[in-house]
Amino acid sequence: MIINRLLLKGSVVAALVLVAACSDEPAVSVDSQAAAEQAQNVLASGDVNDGKQLYVACQACHGAKGGGNKAMNAPSLVNQSPWYVKRQLMAFKEGRRGTHPDDVYGQQMAAIATTIADEAAVDSLVAYVDSLPDRAPEATLDGNVKKGADFYSMVCGSCHGPNAEGNELLDSPALAGVDDWYLARQFELFRKGIRGADDKYGRQMVMMAPALPTEEDVHNVVSYIQSLAE
Ligand code: HEC
Ligand code: HEC
Repeated sequence: MIINRLLLKGSVVAALVLVAACSDEPAVSVDSQAAAEQAQNVLASGDVNDGKQLYVACQACHGAKGGGNKAMNAPSLVNQSPWYVKRQLMAFKEGRRGTHPDDVYGQQMAAIATTIADEAAVDSLVAYVDSLPDRAPEATLDGNVKKGADFYSMVCGSCHGPNAEGNELLDSPALAGVDDWYLARQFELFRKGIRGADDKYGRQMVMMAPALPTEEDVHNVVSYIQSLAE
């Protein structure tokens, strides 16, 4: 029985309590409704042509078509939702992500983000990235998909959506379609408190991280998420 199995792992129980707390929230609070409207405005206010010009500064790492480059540790940007891409760019720009001394890759991105002139330029970049075609990510990890599926639906799906498609009202990004190596690395960063310490959205993931105590658990879940995008 699921509950008995879970009682063996105190941290997972704690995580489930969190999940319960998260799903008990009213589906649409006034705050998140406002946030959703704001996010929808991102695309409307961004200028794709301006974004294309600005994107020249991103190509070397994220690729000409936004498909990412593992050798540069830079993830694909094209399969992610515009509201989330914007929030991350603003977090890098405003010092809520990529500031931890051990966050080697985040610091690289934060350095670039501070060169983006203003929020209007961020909106244009986001609109341009959104106009690029999606890409199918390649599996680079070989976790146990079946074990990962059980964990995913018990612990992660309530926020990230049953198919890892993301849930804007819960501030939770899509995970399906994002590079597996990148997801696994982000999870470890949350676990170590290297990402999320200064950010209210990231903090939720810092609290969730003990739910997957080992690297193997993380790889299982991430391989399952990868399988959803295939
Ligand atoms: C020097 C290489 C480099 C350049 C240039 C660069 N990035 Fe990045 N970017 C990265 C790396 C590395 C990461 C991953 C950071 C991490 O692991 O936390 C990243 C992460 C991101 C993320 C977060 C994605 C997510 O799912 O969390 C976004 C959004 C992003 N970059 C957008 C841009 C944009 C837009 C530009 C151009 C203005 C740009 N980047 C230029 C290296 C770069
Ligand atoms: C309580 C809601 C909640 C639960 C449950 C949850 N997450 Fe998250 N997750 C979030 C939020 C919010 C963010 C965005 C953090 C940010 O903006 O930096 C996030 C971000 C992430 C990211 C970073 C994605 C990226 O592109 O950078 C990964 C990876 C992730 N979650 C994996 C998981 C996994 C695996 C589970 C299950 C063990 C899980 N999450 C459970 C809320 C949740």
